[in-house]
Amino acid sequence: MPSATCHLPPATFPATRLRRTRMQGWCRELVREYRLHPSDLIWPVFIHEGKNKQTPIASMPGVNRIPLDILGENAKSANQLGIKAIALFPSIETKLKTPCGDEAWSENNLVCRAIKTIKDAVPEMGVIADVALDPYTTHGQDGIVEKGVVVNDKTVAALCKQALVMAEAGCNIVAPSDMMDGRIGSIRAALESAGFQDTMILAYAAKYASAFYGPFRDAVGSAKNLGKSDKHNYQMDPANSDEAMREIAMDIAEGADMVMVKPGLPYLDIIQRTASSFHIPVFAYQVSGEYAMIKAAVQNGWLDGDAAMLESLTAFKRAGARAIFTYAAVDVARLLHE
Ligand code: PBG
Repeated sequence: MPSATCHLPPATFPATRLRRTRMQGWCRELVREYRLHPSDLIWPVFIHEGKNKQTPIASMPGVNRIPLDILGENAKSANQLGIKAIALFPSIETKLKTPCGDEAWSENNLVCRAIKTIKDAVPEMGVIADVALDPYTTHGQDGIVEKGVVVNDKTVAALCKQALVMAEAGCNIVAPSDMMDGRIGSIRAALESAGFQDTMILAYAAKYASAFYGPFRDAVGSAKNLGKSDKHNYQMDPANSDEAMREIAMDIAEGADMVMVKPGLPYLDIIQRTASSFHIPVFAYQVSGEYAMIKAAVQNGWLDGDAAMLESLTAFKRAGARAIFTYAAVDVARLLHE
């Protein structure tokens, strides 16, 4: 049967004036297709050792590394603003970094203590933690390096140990951001056999080798370890889209509960393609470089920061993202309440 719309006259001017619905604020709100809500936002938080000492990150204005003694109260105020989850990123002391990143699976490491801190302070806050070795390795790569190459299967075994200590500490979602092959299946199996069948996996499924991660690497202190090396032999080529669909299909088959596309704004096409091709929640990451670009322009007086941030995050939702990682989560949640 032909659909009803086939019988409608073509939308032509002057019968159709699309500006009519835009004329007044109340109507623009009625016809609005997508809405950003505080519960869409995931707040990525940099944590470090030390007492009551927040340290600013030069390339990310407004973002600080937070010590554990004030993490709980920060989590509580974020939760009161309607933010449902925090993602933890540790800045590890240099003396704890090793070639294999052993501190990553040490039971009482900074991330495990942070998970407990948040869960103690705000039990209803979702806690997400990255599974990847880069904050812990002397070379700043996400995996174990042998003869100059990040070796896949040994790294996956290490990632399983890392995921287990996080799950044990009470982490709700482990988020492998390393881009090794087969890690979702291995981590899922490791969680199952250790009794963590309810711990979720957010797979950084389509993670690109991006120039937009620079400020993050300053924040976690991996930039100087990484030096002139890059991550092109495991993160994806920014020129590829079909390959992202294969990555996502594999991660879903291996047991991912949600998938991530990263970076965000330069990859809206990938978000949209993922959302329309797979029936799984798609998360997106407004990465450090995207945040830094907006803030730098604001500092120069070149952009209205609040408007640019809201527009940018709304674009993620229009593309099909469910939840969005953004360093501006707290500021944006506050704005949305105004
Ligand atoms: C590391 C990791 C990175 C980010 C999240 N986890 C950086 C990288 O892959 O080098 C980037 C986040 C950002 O830039 O905001 N596994």
